[in-house]
Amino acid sequence: MTDYKALVKAAYEAQKNSYCPYSHWAVGAALLTKSGKVYLGCNIENNTFSPTVCAERVAFFKAVSEGVRDFSAIAIVGNAEGAKIGDGDVCPPCGVCRQVMTEFCPADFEIVLGRGDDDYEVYTLAELMPKVSLPLK
Ligand code: THU
Repeated sequence: MTDYKALVKAAYEAQKNSYCPYSHWAVGAALLTKSGKVYLGCNIENNTFSPTVCAERVAFFKAVSEGVRDFSAIAIVGNAEGAKIGDGDVCPPCGVCRQVMTEFCPADFEIVLGRGDDDYEVYTLAELMPKVSLPLK
């Protein structure tokens, strides 16, 4: 049973490292592996814009680049830079990040959208990414 609250807390920790001087939108992600390890990610922007990478993909690519490909959940938090935790709303993953998730995750992979310390919504990947061209793992 996933500890959603702890995963959201880890995402808020990751968010502290967000590098977002252009959008001023800070995102953090905490990716839970099947073995219980957590990989953190934050969005990293660039002044030519297109090299910008979302927090979710940073977490995935850290894990995959270390040989880890079995995932059970990801928590995501995002809000205007400097906002107080709990003041904003959920930050659903972009289409590109959802596509990356379909490459590595099963249909019941859990996507935990944090809104505050103990305030979150949980979706499955199948709910947020229906009708994919390849079957989910
Ligand atoms: N961003 C993420 O990191 N994850 C999301 O789910 C949504 C968007 C980042 C990309 C960019 O640095 C900033 O948020 C504004 O779009």
